[in-house]
Amino acid sequence: MGWTYCVIWCLCLSVSECWQPPNSEPVMQGELQSPQYPRPYPPNLLTQWDIWVPEGYQIQLSITHLDIKASSGCNQDSLTVLHEQKVLGKFCGQENSADHPGKEPILSPGNTLTLIFQTNDSTPELQQHIGFSATYKAIDIDECSQSDPGDGSGPLCTQICVNTPGSYHCSCYTGYKLHLDQHTCLSSCDGCIYDKREGHLASPAYPHPSPPFLSCKYIISVEPSFTITLNFTDNFHIDNVDTEQGPRCLHHWLQVSTPGREPMKLCGGKSPGLIATNSNTVRLDYHTDAEGLSRGWSLDYSTHVVDCGEPEPLLNGGVTYLSGSQNQYHSVVQYHCNEPFYTLPGGRNVTFTCEADGKWRSNHSDVTPTCVSVCGQPTKLISTYQRTIASSEGPDSKIPWHVLLNIDGRIAGGMVIADRWIMTAAHTLTHDRKPISKETVQIYMGPINAKTLLGSPVSAASIHIHPEYNNPDFLDYNSDIALIKLQDPITFNSSVMPICLPAEGATYVTDTIGLVSGFTITEPDNQRILTNDLKYVHLLVVEQETCSNSVNKLKETMDNVPDLTNNMFCAGVPEGGKDSCHGDSGGPFALRDDGRFWAAGIVSWGVGCRNQGTYGVYTRVANYLDWIYKTMQEN
Ligand code: ARG
Repeated sequence: MGWTYCVIWCLCLSVSECWQPPNSEPVMQGELQSPQYPRPYPPNLLTQWDIWVPEGYQIQLSITHLDIKASSGCNQDSLTVLHEQKVLGKFCGQENSADHPGKEPILSPGNTLTLIFQTNDSTPELQQHIGFSATYKAIDIDECSQSDPGDGSGPLCTQICVNTPGSYHCSCYTGYKLHLDQHTCLSSCDGCIYDKREGHLASPAYPHPSPPFLSCKYIISVEPSFTITLNFTDNFHIDNVDTEQGPRCLHHWLQVSTPGREPMKLCGGKSPGLIATNSNTVRLDYHTDAEGLSRGWSLDYSTHVVDCGEPEPLLNGGVTYLSGSQNQYHSVVQYHCNEPFYTLPGGRNVTFTCEADGKWRSNHSDVTPTCVSVCGQPTKLISTYQRTIASSEGPDSKIPWHVLLNIDGRIAGGMVIADRWIMTAAHTLTHDRKPISKETVQIYMGPINAKTLLGSPVSAASIHIHPEYNNPDFLDYNSDIALIKLQDPITFNSSVMPICLPAEGATYVTDTIGLVSGFTITEPDNQRILTNDLKYVHLLVVEQETCSNSVNKLKETMDNVPDLTNNMFCAGVPEGGKDSCHGDSGGPFALRDDGRFWAAGIVSWGVGCRNQGTYGVYTRVANYLDWIYKTMQEN
């Protein structure tokens, strides 16, 4: 491409004007000559050339031929070279003459250069000077060799300056990183992994203020058997912003993250001091932006072997060490429940491993298991069960859910249904139409016999009579069910065990054999006395219609026979002779399914005892499951 020049203004001359499109590309070199060169130049000229080259370059101008009429101070005809109004040289005469310096190339301080060629008309005779001819070229500026401008802005690069054609860039020594300002080298704060068992970290430039636009990442990662503790020095300051919701880490923050936990953002003027991360890997992200100022932070980190501490003890069970050094990383312990009275819901035993975060875990769960009580499975065989229907002695607690209640001198039965709950009949806990006070109830369980009554009873914490039980005249035994909450939970063993509650939708199949226990159950000939030992009898579930017929028959000849409702069922034997009786009220009628006894009935009422054609009436417990569970849950 040719050289570029523009005639910006002409006094009176016949120089062909040329137009430079304003958006044309700068060129790297060119040449220019005086008008009509190499013929003599005309008078009355004022011609200007504006040359520019890309930024980052200078222009080197070489005058290859000069022949301009000489005058003192070149104030007649002249070639003037300028850079932004500053005159770099004014030339006239011949290049060979000793008094002009035009032979040396002229270097522009910037990327533009202006040449003005001026002639006057003071030479009426035809003059023979032919003017000038010059070449120019773009020369790369070596920005890197420029000296510190001394205006406080510092050298171009804080570390390495790399000159490139037309430009330059900064670069940093290893371990340093070029800041976003493209000028400053910061000690590298990214992707650094600290794997020693102790170490030191600090914000870039610490203890000097942190530069803006930081995005530093530090990772501390040690062996999994160790846990990392961060110890921040007192000299801590990360810019925070006071908002209506209190100070916030808005522009600057140091975020501490450990796997599987919410990261925490630190800022403010107070050192967080010690942070036990409970992790063998920690990631720190330090962020600053253009706003605010942080004086920075510094920390030492240390590690110690993971120790999970003593495993939680298990109530009604225990824990044994299987492997590993005690409570340290990877130790394994095993929980078990005191079988056969308690069992773990999931299986026989559960193993917990001491994990890297210092927690005992089993299949990702750090919740200590609980032992649940086993219900309805006596450890001692109840003899002759299901074979014979006979009233037998029940020596020491063969019926381990049976409890003896002494209510102000009156004897009643009850049954253990949970470690704090006894179920009994409502009518045993009311007196003179009012619920009795819990203080008057004495509860005996375990190897009970009549002498037990001399021993120390268990106390009731509260009494819960079914809200629908209303039996002022002893004619309405509907909802004859009550619960007693115990002051202290029972620990179960072979002589005290709970009976199961009915399954949802449990059925009472006619002629199924049930087990009734009590202290007044007697053989046909015996007197009704409080027997020394707990007795039990096997009775059949009686069809509801049969029972209802028997009750109706009694009503024909007797007054004051209570009504039979569907919340009751009958049990007995057609020929009579086996029954529960007065004093057995509240006691259990147990049925057995899948080897487990469940509380089908509560001894409630009867007309006489053991008579042929009459039956004992029992509360149908399966009808009250919702109330039972609700009461136990809410109390
Ligand atoms: N209501 C009697 C009591 O307070 C229970 C009667 C049971 N009678 C019967 N024949 N099964 O002990």
